[in-house]
Amino acid sequence: MVLHGPNLNLLGTREPGVYGTTTLADIDRQVGERAAARGATVECHQSNVEGELVNRIQEARGRAQAIIINPAAYTHTSVAIADALRAVGLPAVEVHLSNVHAREPYRHGSFVAPVCVGTIGGFGARGYGLALEAVLDLLEEKSTS
Ligand code: DQA
Repeated sequence: MVLHGPNLNLLGTREPGVYGTTTLADIDRQVGERAAARGATVECHQSNVEGELVNRIQEARGRAQAIIINPAAYTHTSVAIADALRAVGLPAVEVHLSNVHAREPYRHGSFVAPVCVGTIGGFGARGYGLALEAVLDLLEEKSTS
């Protein structure tokens, strides 16, 4: 399951100097194609509402094998999203388009990072594909060990 947080529905026109010009629909299509090439499927959701993201994370239990999440601004504020990820216990990868560590200090902290397998940031839209490859490798490793 791929989850996108607030304002990511505006990708393409939102601060293109920071986030690039790829739209969210393009990202979802690209990640879907990349998953299909490896025999996997993805379900993508975006919400501007914290509780809706929590609901999606809870729904992932029993439906998805892993979560790729860009919590956007909630990265830096949301105990609820981190708790939901912890509760479902699925392997999760945190993605950011921008390199948050090279930006304002209030973007340097993440409530989500400690409950994720890892974080990919600073590579723009291609970060989602990198996260997908990483998580599929991980699931394959687990299934053969
Ligand atoms: C972001 C970084 C966050 O700090 C910001 O609030 C976003 C997008 C990123 O993908 O670079 O909305 O998660």
